[in-house]
Amino acid sequence: MEPISRRRAIQLGGMGLAGVVVGGVGLAATWDGSSPPSPGGESFGMPAVFRSDGGVLDVTLEAAEGRHEVAGRTATTLAYNGTVPGPTLSLRPGDLLRIRLVNSLSEPTNLHTHGLLVSPEGNADNVFIHIEPGESFDYEYRLPDDQPPGLYWYHPHLHGLVADQLFAGMYGAIVVEDPVELPFTRERLLIVSDITFDGSRVRGASGMDRMMGREGELVLLNGRLSPVLSARPGERERWALLNACSSRFLSLRLDGQRLQLLGRDLGLGSDAEDVTEVFVPPGGRAHLAVTAAEGSSTLEAVPVDRGGPMMMGSRGDTDVAALATFDVGGPAADERVALPAAPAVRDLREATVDGRRELVFAMGRGMGMGPRGMSFTIDGRSFDHERVDQEVTFGSVEEWTIRNDSPMDHPFHLHVWPMQLIEENGRPAGSVTWLDVVNVPAGGRVTVRIAFDRHSGRSVYHCHILDHEDLGMMAVIRVV
Ligand code: C2O
Ligand code: CU
Ligand code: CU
Repeated sequence: MEPISRRRAIQLGGMGLAGVVVGGVGLAATWDGSSPPSPGGESFGMPAVFRSDGGVLDVTLEAAEGRHEVAGRTATTLAYNGTVPGPTLSLRPGDLLRIRLVNSLSEPTNLHTHGLLVSPEGNADNVFIHIEPGESFDYEYRLPDDQPPGLYWYHPHLHGLVADQLFAGMYGAIVVEDPVELPFTRERLLIVSDITFDGSRVRGASGMDRMMGREGELVLLNGRLSPVLSARPGERERWALLNACSSRFLSLRLDGQRLQLLGRDLGLGSDAEDVTEVFVPPGGRAHLAVTAAEGSSTLEAVPVDRGGPMMMGSRGDTDVAALATFDVGGPAADERVALPAAPAVRDLREATVDGRRELVFAMGRGMGMGPRGMSFTIDGRSFDHERVDQEVTFGSVEEWTIRNDSPMDHPFHLHVWPMQLIEENGRPAGSVTWLDVVNVPAGGRVTVRIAFDRHSGRSVYHCHILDHEDLGMMAVIRVV
């Protein structure tokens, strides 16, 4: 196989994430044809991509149960358009996104666009919508011109069914393309999820699973088990990685390779930082630069101790999961163009704070709300869609401290309004970090600042251990 010229490589890399994703399988085949999948591994696949054209993307997503290819087998799962993960939606800032969601499930569902800075009202990112079986709904989202390029995602958000539906296969990526050419040989989309099978069906959750937050026995990358990714020494790749697990926390390693963290969630506010381990809570994303070094490395998810209900010890999975093999060989490439400096982003540390709030996450006994009488609350209350828990004035900047009075970590997620990390357990954040999921450690506290100057309306915040969300660890915010 003729080695690809540097110019061609840069060109392809410069097409932006989605450009390369479109090529997905085919691209990998021509690019790295010299390295066939290793035994036991699966070649690296990609879900279909729907790209916007002329500022508009019109898609139909059908949620249905069926026999699907996942984890190297055919199994009965839920899915959007018959694939796990569902199709990738590729957009540009300012685009109009229209999704017709067809509910062919036997239960209600709806849709949430996690991380998009779009309205939570009407037929936009409105999580209060119920779409009954056999019905469909037309969503319409207008992305702002300054939606940060990066990785977002969609998943169901019908309270009580979120974890079950997502765990059974309903999730997909939303990529907002970077209009600026980036100095990478190629860009990869990595969707991490987990699942457990009972025969050829997805296993349901026990009461204990829900309380702990279920973790699947299999950890998948783009719906596959341990695919092989190939590169040449010296190549530099950009990885956009999503933790689409219902409850599993990821701590990722790629020993033997140079790994740099470029940003999280809403992106690229800090300069590249060399890392050996990358922590990604459920719902979160990480943007990484990988500089390939000769040899074979394993992308591993190492155990994370996220605590557990008292008397029950820590949560279950103590195994290392091998997510992928990264095979580096062939003639060396020289892609050492300097990484671009991080774009200047808004820093609310200098803002005037109009209000301060404290939110308390807790787990209690004997209130009969969850399995085994365990309640999952925010400020002592369980979710009620008719109650407004926080009313915020449009245009204000607020500082929120989220306190975790329980013995388990809870990843705090606020819809629509991104959060700038200010302090974690009293330690000030070093750089400007914009997140939509902030992990609040067991017994700890996290302080964030939020500018409520983009959309008004009613939406939610919750624990992104989706079993906890379904058990009531969610509340309503209204910005007026
Ligand atoms: Cu990714 Cu409210 O969720
Ligand atoms: Cu969300
Ligand atoms: Cu939680």
